[in-house]
Amino acid sequence: MKILIINGPNLNLLGTREADVYGSKTLDDINKSLEKLAAELGVEIDIRQSNHEGEIVDLIQKTQEYAALVINPAAYTHTSVAIRDAIAAVDIPAVEIHLSNIYKREEFRHKSLISPVAHGQISGFGPDSYVLGLRAAVSIATNAKKGAS
Ligand code: DQA
Repeated sequence: MKILIINGPNLNLLGTREADVYGSKTLDDINKSLEKLAAELGVEIDIRQSNHEGEIVDLIQKTQEYAALVINPAAYTHTSVAIRDAIAAVDIPAVEIHLSNIYKREEFRHKSLISPVAHGQISGFGPDSYVLGLRAAVSIATNAKKGAS
């Protein structure tokens, strides 16, 4: 089973970016913990990061080989109809994740355009949101496979 993990804009700056909100771990640190968990769960993961909306749409459109998608759309969560439509267009379940609890923050972050097309959302657990997101994606994909057979 292969899972795709997509990180949106500015997440390449984790570690130095607003550490009071996002913590001190870098994206590389998070990716290492995901690789470790993937090995434990016996799944393959591909991890991508992009600061560009269209590039993220392209990545989502190429998900045929994946059983599920884990996505932190970052700021595009609140603005991107294109990313929302791309997730709705592909036939794999998506888990939306956020490091911070977006509902505890500025009002413009309370609205996610992605949630209505995601299987579910995990928000507010820091780097653990990624770990929980990967576990959730594997669980959904495993259940979907069982349902199909
Ligand atoms: C974020 C929350 C978004 O509102 C913000 O724009 C981000 C990161 C999070 O992981 O908490 O860039 O998605």
